Amino acid sequence: MGTNLAKYQPLFGLRNWLRLITILAATSGLSITVRYSDAQETQAAATPGSVIAELAKEIENVQPFVAGAWTKKWISEVAQLDKVQPKKIKIKEREILVDESLFYSGRYGSPLTYARAFDLAEKHGFAPDTGAKVFDFGYGSIGHLRMLAQMGLDVTGVDVDPLLPNMYTNSSGPYKKGRVQLLDGKFPAEEALVQSAGSGYDLFLSKNTLKRGYIHPAREPASPRHVIDLGVTDEKFLEQVASMLKPGGLFVIYNFCPARAPDDKPYIPWADGECPFSKEQLATAGFEVLEYDVVDDKPARELGHLLGWDAPGGMNLETDLFAWYTIVKKKSQ
Ligand SMILES: C[S@@+](CC[C@H](N)C(=O)[O-])C[C@H]1O[C@@H](n2cnc3c(N)ncnc32)[C@H](O)[C@@H]1O
Repeated sequence: MGTNLAKYQPLFGLRNWLRLITILAATSGLSITVRYSDAQETQAAATPGSVIAELAKEIENVQPFVAGAWTKKWISEVAQLDKVQPKKIKIKEREILVDESLFYSGRYGSPLTYARAFDLAEKHGFAPDTGAKVFDFGYGSIGHLRMLAQMGLDVTGVDVDPLLPNMYTNSSGPYKKGRVQLLDGKFPAEEALVQSAGSGYDLFLSKNTLKRGYIHPAREPASPRHVIDLGVTDEKFLEQVASMLKPGGLFVIYNFCPARAPDDKPYIPWADGECPFSKEQLATAGFEVLEYDVVDDKPARELGHLLGWDAPGGMNLETDLFAWYTIVKKKSQ
């Protein structure tokens, strides 16, 4: 990514440096891995329960920020997450320490960064009972999915990141009152994933994954790793989403983004957070467009502040944080 994180290292302790990495990762994308694990080499493992205790402190801050009663309940579930014993795993000869921090807040920050997306879904009627189904495209980490399962939901996440199946071994199956299914691979290009994902979903969610800059970059990205290749046309992708949703089911795209680069600087794909699909494409696929490319900078900055992203040495939220969302509903016909 464009920011040189290493330059911050002398200014901070390691803990703060890791925190900054997480903050930046929350708005960005795909190249954070190496730096995270470089920093990890000198990191002490988080004591089991310590990260959950830190996350639990965020409940009081974040609950008043959301409007929906269901989302408030989902937020409170963060305190009930299971403790994680640290372990070391190897990926491509690289040893990675998986502790409670990486397990729940690892690459992309607190599970509570999903609060705004769920609150917007709730505004459009998503306040599900036990057994309702949620699909998270590019889930990134397990915390928010387990919090849904604790409320009795049946949750499926798919992701292509090889860290995740190595970190979350034996994590698919019944969990508390619900179920979590984790799928590994490129969705929906891999047919086996489509089969395993099935259908009957109440919500298809994409946070920080379906960004216009990742799917249809406006300029040449610095690296091919900065592009998300769906492996199918937009039309096929939208047909797939529609076929997975129940009639009346919601498709929610929520994107936090950093500032765009000036034209004479390298392009930042993850800064273009608008919907990658046009209204016409969404309508043709059988969706009613409820809200399209709504600028959500103010609530995003408020949430960023509540989660401490603007703590000393962190972001200037007014200049570094932007957000967009799109919400569509599968027509009942
Ligand atoms: C920027 S991260 C967002 C993670 C998480 N949704 C969040 O907001 O914290 C984008 C995620 O999408 C995943 N991804 C990219 N292309 C994918 C694909 N075709 N199928 C499944 N996952 C994909 C990446 O591995 C990455 O974890």
